[in-house]
Amino acid sequence: MDNLVTIILAAGKGTRMKSKLPKVLHKVAGKSMLQHVIDAAKAAGASRNVVVVGFGGDTVKAAIGDQAEFAVQAEQLGTGHAVMQAKPLLGSEKGTVMVLCGDTPLLTGQLLEKLYNEHKASGAKATVLTAIMPDAAGYGRIVRTADGAVSKIVEHKDATEEERKINEVNSGIYCFDIQAMFEALESVGCDNAQGEYYLPDVLEILRNKGEKIWAAAADDYESTLGINSRLQLSGAEKILRRRKNIELMDNGVTIMDPDSTFVDADVTVGKDTIIYPFTWLEGKTSVGENCQIGPNCRFTDTKMGNSVVCHFSYGHECEIDDGVTFGPYVHLRPDTHLFKGVKIGNFVEVKNSNVGEGTKLPHLQYIGDSDVGANVNMGCGTITVNYDGKKKFRTTIGDNAFVGCNSNLVAPVTVGDGAYIGAGSTITKDVPAGELAIARAHQKNIQGWADKRK
Ligand code: UD1
Ligand code: CA
Repeated sequence: MDNLVTIILAAGKGTRMKSKLPKVLHKVAGKSMLQHVIDAAKAAGASRNVVVVGFGGDTVKAAIGDQAEFAVQAEQLGTGHAVMQAKPLLGSEKGTVMVLCGDTPLLTGQLLEKLYNEHKASGAKATVLTAIMPDAAGYGRIVRTADGAVSKIVEHKDATEEERKINEVNSGIYCFDIQAMFEALESVGCDNAQGEYYLPDVLEILRNKGEKIWAAAADDYESTLGINSRLQLSGAEKILRRRKNIELMDNGVTIMDPDSTFVDADVTVGKDTIIYPFTWLEGKTSVGENCQIGPNCRFTDTKMGNSVVCHFSYGHECEIDDGVTFGPYVHLRPDTHLFKGVKIGNFVEVKNSNVGEGTKLPHLQYIGDSDVGANVNMGCGTITVNYDGKKKFRTTIGDNAFVGCNSNLVAPVTVGDGAYIGAGSTITKDVPAGELAIARAHQKNIQGWADKRK
């Protein structure tokens, strides 16, 4: 593959979003529209990506970081002017530049690769990606000569009645020979209905110079859709969710009800896992093979092994090893690691804790800032008291310990291997290995008390 770089236009305000956030940073399927475009560009093999920013530029830069380079377009004078702003960065590059828009999150690496391959095969200096739109209003139209060759692109506002009947549109995505494009841009003017420097004019300029220009048709218009409003954003969300679910099912995942299963673009799920309805898998979550997830689960940035079974639960930024079962109503908070075969029952919260292999937290626990060993049995209602109002402290529980129901472990405290704690104890001192600790008031029975009360 020859050198391929991209310019991603993202300077527009996105007025119709009615948002303080720059349009391209609005999320769809768990990541920003611009991130989807950058990922597609990278998948297509781009060596450098230059994002042209304007409105909210600093916010965009902060969100994308070192994944791209940035050019600033201070005033939005049109798409041609926007591309020109990348010249100081790319002006001395040779090869192909692909121009993309930051608000087209449905693009795929495959589609961009197809465009690039057609561009190279045709030997054209410019290739535009076109789509057949059911409603072409607002788009630039592809005007072809009698023999089918592309002659120019005319903007909706500049088009004649006849041209407006054309339903083949400019997707806003192109491949250009880098040097030819920057040279042609010098002669783009702004004598048009919008008073803007139009990038599509480059095609006509090149054609008039006798260069070959080409149009590559997208298989479906959906992938090229640009998002301008919240309604369109929700439409893109639906399409991306459906695509992801199909990809997972094609790879051996059972999704009981795709309409109520929401899996972000970068999530991975192993085969023979079953996802029950009303489940969200978000961010960088990975789920192993043979798991049963849901109904009603939500996991964000969670790493899950194989054969995990859970329902009605929420986990974020945590790690769950093979064979763990939990739910209903379990909340796994950041930096929690559940080792192999851990069993968690109902109404349990675990935060910033390691829970050892085979340990059971069967009902009503709060385990925070703790290191719990293997095969520990925590009785119903046990709590680690990790916070004194100012600072957090850790609780350590050794392997095979048995903590009686309704105990409080006041941190910092250590319970040794195989130690027992009597039910209802409030433990404030370390319990050595193998010992029994009971820390509760002695029971007193008063004979005949009830009769006397009558
Ligand atoms: C553009 C095309 C049109 C095409 C359509 C596809 C032009 C003149 N027209 O029209 O043929 O059918 O896209 O969606 O190019 N931008 C900047 N700086 C600017 C102007 C725009 O960065 O000065 C960015 C916008 O943020 C956006 C993209 O370029 O991401 C497209 O701009 P937009 O104003 O939406 O162009 P359209 O009028 O839709
Ligand atoms: Ca647009």
